[in-house]
Amino acid sequence: MKESTVTGNDSVQSEGHESPFTWLVPVVYDLGAPALFSPLGGWDTLREQALDTFEVRAGEHVLELGCGTGGITEKLIKRGACVTAIDRSEPMLKRARRRAPSATIIRADIRSLQCERRFDRVLLAFVLHHLDAETRMHALRFARRVLAPEGTIGIVDWVKPTGDIRRRCLQIYLTLLEPPCAKDWTDEGFESHLRRAELTILKDRSFARGFVRLVVAGRDTVRADSAERTPGAASHLLAS
Ligand SMILES: C[S@@+](CC[C@H](N)C(=O)[O-])C[C@H]1O[C@@H](n2cnc3c(N)ncnc32)[C@H](O)[C@@H]1O
Repeated sequence: MKESTVTGNDSVQSEGHESPFTWLVPVVYDLGAPALFSPLGGWDTLREQALDTFEVRAGEHVLELGCGTGGITEKLIKRGACVTAIDRSEPMLKRARRRAPSATIIRADIRSLQCERRFDRVLLAFVLHHLDAETRMHALRFARRVLAPEGTIGIVDWVKPTGDIRRRCLQIYLTLLEPPCAKDWTDEGFESHLRRAELTILKDRSFARGFVRLVVAGRDTVRADSAERTPGAASHLLAS
């Protein structure tokens, strides 16, 4: 049995009523995402290009937050990475376990995670727009905390494209098919979130005709150091 150094629980998810149709979500996701991205250059191509840019190397330890049905987990394993993948949805994880049997797959809510080790890479692919503002910051700060000294965080997510018509298309898609917090994510944008989590952008690439962005980020040590030295600076950073 695989030993896990990341622990957590899914209690936040199991509060309240769970729909009898939850099992349908992974089916809809695995059919819907390729269809959605087909006119945008392809789902599989997007994921491969994002991983090429993130430059995961064989033997590296990768923590994947919100792994869903494990499409990226499988690709990371094929690239030789040692993957720990987290998601709170059991139906999604059922598929992930089938796709990536050698990954360490844990059912947990991001808000409950505890971790005893450091990772070379932390990946959040299409997850932050699923989280409310507080959980989003929690996820980014957790990712920063568990990074190895030279480690990097990869964030792949929706971004407001240029041009009125394309912006309107994204708005309609987010309103119809994504949770309400997705609009907050695209309105506030990558930069503001990363700054508040004391992360600095190391690489930045646009995909899917400008609807998706990959940012590779690392610890913003200058800002973190000055916050430690200057009394009150940390609260200023959090408020900015
Ligand atoms: C759009 S899917 C992305 C899946 C995968 N990263 C991919 O790119 O295919 C978002 C995933 O985040 C998970 N998720 C949302 N909120 C979460 C939370 N608070 N804790 C853990 N997982 C969460 C959902 O269950 C879902 O599987």
